[in-house]
Amino acid sequence: MTQALAIQAGVVLFQALAWWLWLHWWPSASPALGVVALVQGVLSAMISFWIGMALWWWLIQLTFPLVVLAAVAVHWPVAVYAGLFSVLWLGYWHTFRTQVPYYPSSPAVWRAVQDCLPAGRPCRAIDLGSGLGGLVLHLARTRSDCRVTGAELAPLPWLTSRLRAMGLPNVFLRRVDYHSLDLGEYDLVFAYLSPAAMPALWRKAQQEMRPGSVLLSYEFVIPDQPADRQIHLPGMHSLLYAWYI
Ligand SMILES: C[S@@+](CC[C@H](N)C(=O)[O-])C[C@H]1O[C@@H](n2cnc3c(N)ncnc32)[C@H](O)[C@@H]1O
Repeated sequence: MTQALAIQAGVVLFQALAWWLWLHWWPSASPALGVVALVQGVLSAMISFWIGMALWWWLIQLTFPLVVLAAVAVHWPVAVYAGLFSVLWLGYWHTFRTQVPYYPSSPAVWRAVQDCLPAGRPCRAIDLGSGLGGLVLHLARTRSDCRVTGAELAPLPWLTSRLRAMGLPNVFLRRVDYHSLDLGEYDLVFAYLSPAAMPALWRKAQQEMRPGSVLLSYEFVIPDQPADRQIHLPGMHSLLYAWYI
């Protein structure tokens, strides 16, 4: 995000200089704000592409100035912006630090994780970054003999998951940074995080997880640590990876 903001700021300075020179030579041709916003977006997206940022960052860079312009044009009360900011802040919390935003996994993933739970005996499972609690609730409902924990840092998803889990005795939803938890307590550890989080997760798993337990990661691999098993999910491109400890 710092990189994206630095690019936008750099392009603002570049545009200010370019338009100043333009108006100096051709004072009657003042640019429309829409043109300025479009040039801002296109240049920022091109720089993001050039330095190798992910596709979704180019799209954000491209549309951000136009969205700002549109937001100014509709003249909403300040309270609307404050409300939107609060919801985003409570929903995404420390994403700028963790590099792991919220996006949910799907029921196909939940069923595959369920199949990896030890059969025929009570067990303990944890979802690192449990979001709105979809996976945790699914496992708790389908395996009432297992104790299922969700660890979530962001307040709003955590609160939502707590409300959704009311009445389920085998669910434990904690608002906590998973780095502070001991993974040795669990038979199955599930993570749907981001590439940035995987090296540290693997070091933690190696130090703490018990022999016989399994680490699962949906979509994201651990660099230089091939998975013991790759699970294909019906109708989905991304895989579920398993490392047996
Ligand atoms: C990609 S979402 C996955 C949500 C959920 N596990 C699922 O499968 O639907 C990742 C979640 O991890 C949370 N998260 C990121 N870093 C975390 C940390 N260090 N401790 C706890 N939660 C974290 C984010 O707030 C986000 O809700």
